[in-house]
Amino acid sequence: MMGICKQKIIHVSRFIYVLLAMTLVSICTVIFYDSDLHRHVRVISTARISSNGTKELQHAIVSGMKAIDKGLNKLEVVSLRGAVPSVINRLSEIVTNFEHRVLNFNVDDILKSLSDIPFEESRLVHKIQQKQRNADFKCVIRITKYCSKRCDHIVQRIHSTEWTRFSCDVNEACQVETRFVGNLTREIMQSSDVLFIVSSLHQNLQLERLVASRPPGQLWVLYSRESPSHDPEYAPQGLTGNPFNLTMTHARDADIHFPYATTRERKQGEPPSIPKKTKLIAWVSSNCQLLSWRRGEFVKELQQHISVDTYGKCGSMGKLAAEDTAKTLKQYKFYLAFENSECRDYITEKPWRNSLSQGVVPIVYGTKREDYEELLPRNSFIFVEDFSNMSAFVDYIHALDEDKARYREFFNWRSESTVYFTRSSSFSVKAPKVNMCYLLKKLVHLFFHPETSWQKRTPDFASWWRGQCDDPSTEKNLLGFSVRPTKKNKKNREENNVVHR
Ligand SMILES: *[C@@H]1O[C@H](CO)[C@@H](O)[C@H](O)[C@H]1NC(C)=O
Ligand SMILES: *[C@@H]1O[C@H](CO)[C@@H](O)[C@H](O)[C@H]1NC(C)=O
Ligand SMILES: *[C@@H]1O[C@H](CO)[C@@H](O)[C@H](O)[C@H]1NC(C)=O
Ligand SMILES: *[C@@H]1O[C@H](CO)[C@@H](O)[C@H](O)[C@H]1NC(C)=O
Repeated sequence: MMGICKQKIIHVSRFIYVLLAMTLVSICTVIFYDSDLHRHVRVISTARISSNGTKELQHAIVSGMKAIDKGLNKLEVVSLRGAVPSVINRLSEIVTNFEHRVLNFNVDDILKSLSDIPFEESRLVHKIQQKQRNADFKCVIRITKYCSKRCDHIVQRIHSTEWTRFSCDVNEACQVETRFVGNLTREIMQSSDVLFIVSSLHQNLQLERLVASRPPGQLWVLYSRESPSHDPEYAPQGLTGNPFNLTMTHARDADIHFPYATTRERKQGEPPSIPKKTKLIAWVSSNCQLLSWRRGEFVKELQQHISVDTYGKCGSMGKLAAEDTAKTLKQYKFYLAFENSECRDYITEKPWRNSLSQGVVPIVYGTKREDYEELLPRNSFIFVEDFSNMSAFVDYIHALDEDKARYREFFNWRSESTVYFTRSSSFSVKAPKVNMCYLLKKLVHLFFHPETSWQKRTPDFASWWRGQCDDPSTEKNLLGFSVRPTKKNKKNREENNVVHR
């Protein structure tokens, strides 16, 4: 069979389209990278080869942007024979159009033709419409970033207890104001049009109470970089329905996918050289408590079979000063990028900052292989669950250690891409692209197109939140080692409630 899905990189406007060859010639995965939104959109197309030699695109699925599933169904009849570029064009048209629909959504035109949108339906859209109808209307859209206890240090860091005012092209005539708030008083709650709930170990969120005090027409955005298993407060027993109108998290099915880092196309220049290696495996951790899995004990088990240097609060080599971290880690060939939770798409700075961007190969554990494949650079990591026992794993690492050429292959991605970090503070007013104005646009767009929203797909928030993580009561073995907490250490865990990093 000839290659329908040859490896190919095509540039069209601001998108980068990467067409990858998969194991079967007849399956193509097209990954769209949207550099404005910093996220990947994946389209899988399966071509059926008929006995008479014609190829038909049988199926097309999208991840990362479920909203366009519908449009893609139309593609099922497109023939793939000699038509790869046209298929790509049609797919790209749909994807481009979708984001363009959000970015270039002209709310003014639509609002003109509609009767009054009640305040109780959407304070945001109501205000924009009122401003349009009456120039004297004082339009101030208030976005409150509620971060509960954690706010204190955020507020101190950014030195801001004032409302920051700015304008957005969603409607230039309306002022937008935002501020972090740790103590959500009645006055602030009542006057907020959008409540941006910053998740991070709230400890006293009292979500049900918050729901009860929600004024009508207020839109809620959930922003989280933590794993759901650390924030069980978001899914209390009594919560029904879905109080959040928009999500921005590391989950790929969120409205705004916000990973810790992603890759960008390498525009120019040679990839950095691989740092000189003198050591084998490193691990850095500051959280020695028991997690949903016995991470620390598993590392100890590994040390019985292979050399692992452990740093940080839980390590034997001591803490690494911030300025020494990069220099120290670079000397290692591998890094144990073991997450503190086993949750879907939950990939933190561990593989990104501690390994990939240092020129170290991450050995990963946390989410499923397909999530890593989707979110990390291609062929850049070792998935510990690929090995059924310790000796298979150890033999593999030793073989790589001795075979320079094979080891170097883990760095091939660097000739095409570079690591791009999305900082949590970048979702601020001033951040150039992922910013509050985009969020507002998205909220306005969702008002008119609820069918494209995550909220619509997720009627039961609590199940979605809880469903992202593995059930710690299900037995699990890693390289033959049982990683589930035993009864005795489970009790310790409950006593040390706070789990972090
Ligand atoms: C080849 O087979 C497919 C289905 O098996 C059919 O739809 C198509 O018309 C055939 N093409 C030719 C040129 O015979
Ligand atoms: C929150 O603000 C209210 C009203 O200003 C005040 O009475 C209360 O003590 C504050 N709570 C905290 C925890 O600071
Ligand atoms: C926002 O979410 C709330 C709670 O689920 C819902 O009642 C409301 O209709 C949503 N607003 C919009 C504009 O979709
Ligand atoms: C370990 O796994 C490898 C590969 O799956 C297998 O060939 C080998 O027999 C296993 N060794 C032991 C000790 O189970």
